Amino acid sequence: MLMTMDLSITSCMDLLQVQPPDLVRHSKNVSTLAVLLSMAAGCPSATQERIRVGSLLHDIGKQFVPGRILNKQGKLAPVELLNIQEHAWLGYAHLTNFTSDATVLQTVLYHHERWNGTGYPYGLQGESIPLEARICSLADVWDALVTDRCYRSAWNDTQAIELIWAGAGSLFDPLLTSQFLGILEEYRSEPEPPLPLPIKPVSENATVASAMGPSAQSMEDGI
Ligand SMILES: [Fe+2]
Repeated sequence: MLMTMDLSITSCMDLLQVQPPDLVRHSKNVSTLAVLLSMAAGCPSATQERIRVGSLLHDIGKQFVPGRILNKQGKLAPVELLNIQEHAWLGYAHLTNFTSDATVLQTVLYHHERWNGTGYPYGLQGESIPLEARICSLADVWDALVTDRCYRSAWNDTQAIELIWAGAGSLFDPLLTSQFLGILEEYRSEPEPPLPLPIKPVSENATVASAMGPSAQSMEDGI
């Protein structure tokens, strides 16, 4: 059963600060991009704020994944890949202790779903993936690509744009992809975003997927 506590600015930022600095930086970048994309997609301002918070916390579940796996430089064993993929569901489960806001929770739970059904944890396809998660996934992949990772160097913008564009209609919502590429120029000159506004629970009965357990797919993380 979901709790109905507000996810206040303070608790949101407290939750974020338990993350390593590089993950905090990534989360802030993803949040900024996701808000810009939600604006381009025509989301109401209240929804934009919920997407801002959900995107800030999208990887909160990584605190439950062993660091030796998260930071492993070699190829991941299948069980290690499953451990990493569980962060989406673990983050969702953790956040239910703080909020019942469906947009926030769905952003976290579904941010690794892919348009063609090859994502995780549930392999949802197309518009069955909540809009907020489709928005977050584009921002997430972009920032991951243009950032140095322990297993590869950062891609340049041209390479990243080509990969994102190539994923339109397969990995990503095609309409959102074109809107995303349109806002990149604005993002590059975007100042530090303001802190998120407090979130009020949408309803006592906010729901996400009926199936709750992780069902990691045997697919590559890719990012
Ligand atoms: Fe993630």
